[in-house]
Amino acid sequence: MTSKVIQSVRGMHGLVPGIAAQYSEIQKKAVGVIQSYAYDEIQLPLLEYTDLFARGVGESTDIVEKEMYSLDDRDGVSLSLRPEGTAGCVRALEENGLLYNQTQKIFYTGPMFRYEKPQKGRYRQFNQIGVESYGFKGPDIDLELLLMMRDILSELDISSEVSLEINNLGSVESRHAYRLALIEYLEPLRSKLDEDSQRRLSSNPLRILDSKNAQTQDLLLNAPRLDDYSDDDSRDSFAELCALLDGQGQNYVINPFLVRGLDYYTDCVFEWKAKGIGAQNTICAGGRYDGLVGKLGGRETPAIGFAIGLERLVLAVEQTQDQLPVIGSADVYVCMLGESLLSRAIELGAQIRQRKADLKVRVHMGGGNLKKQFKKADTSGAKWALLIGEEEIEKNMVSLKDLRDSTTGQTMLSLEEAIQKIVVNKS
Ligand code: HAM
Repeated sequence: MTSKVIQSVRGMHGLVPGIAAQYSEIQKKAVGVIQSYAYDEIQLPLLEYTDLFARGVGESTDIVEKEMYSLDDRDGVSLSLRPEGTAGCVRALEENGLLYNQTQKIFYTGPMFRYEKPQKGRYRQFNQIGVESYGFKGPDIDLELLLMMRDILSELDISSEVSLEINNLGSVESRHAYRLALIEYLEPLRSKLDEDSQRRLSSNPLRILDSKNAQTQDLLLNAPRLDDYSDDDSRDSFAELCALLDGQGQNYVINPFLVRGLDYYTDCVFEWKAKGIGAQNTICAGGRYDGLVGKLGGRETPAIGFAIGLERLVLAVEQTQDQLPVIGSADVYVCMLGESLLSRAIELGAQIRQRKADLKVRVHMGGGNLKKQFKKADTSGAKWALLIGEEEIEKNMVSLKDLRDSTTGQTMLSLEEAIQKIVVNKS
């Protein structure tokens, strides 16, 4: 009797070989841009105390209320898989004294976990590339982060597919005043609101502005405007940011209904949206969160950041290309005429790696005739097969074959010459 194959957890599908390499390549390009702005990497644990997210992201947010993967450890302490990286960054920097009298510019990558309803572009385990900065009041840093994302889009050749929306949420105090005004306006209309918005009216009324329900959206047309409640400092800083963006030729739309699903935001918030990837089209989102460090027990510190959803970024890149480039496992495949040459073939592999560390070298395993070895070489994605037989060994040479050009045969060369040819014609 064969046992039943165990499936992956719903919404957590991982990436198979080949596809994983394509994701890594795209992430590498994005991280390359971030590093070119001299941001330092930080690595965060997957598990944190649940309290960090309850206090940081906000008790009444969907993320904390309904979407966290929480567990009690053996001491009965509640821990949660991180649903996002910002709260963890603040915790880590504060705990290590790295926010005291200094500024920080950091980035992180890795999986986040949210119990959401899975669909295209929305998963229960997904990857973020996050960027955070601390100690800068802005709007210079706000501009830098937006230009950094612009450069990432340009590096991936998808600038024309993505647009930027921004909004000003104002200070914590002005948002509080706006919250009260919004409740006062919506309370008499409660029964006409969609179900989610009715619930949010008591817990998180600003999120109602985000509702996709047409009737709710109609009701919001005459609602008080967030902008009218904003304080002068915040409004000036936002206007300055807009002028800086204009100066840099960066297009944007001010969306007064743009509010974020996490409680820590203040002042400027933004979302980058991609065309043609479905309903979950925000590929990057973020904003200022000047109150969070204080809320988590540190000294008040200005902060701003964003996170890119890697899966959505890949969808956006896929949109613009028929197919993502196939990334072969190997560049060079070493074959041998007879199993007695295995040790020599392994040595040859090691020699190539030593001389050219960036070449991916696979030595044939599992025996078989040359036809079988070349077939394996072909499926490895390698452009080059390196072959050794008695003759090659005697002459201290190797035979090189271009697997992607059937018009050329094998050439006998010294190892040095072969490596040179491989490097020049890599891919
Ligand atoms: P967020 O808007 O919750 O913000 O997530 C940022 C991005 O992660 C989203 O725009 C989206 O691309 C991706 N994302 C979120 N949830 C999912 C999901 N279930 N499946 C696939 N992708 C998803 C934050 O997480 C903030 N920490 C961003 C930030 C950093 N703000 C300041 N600093």
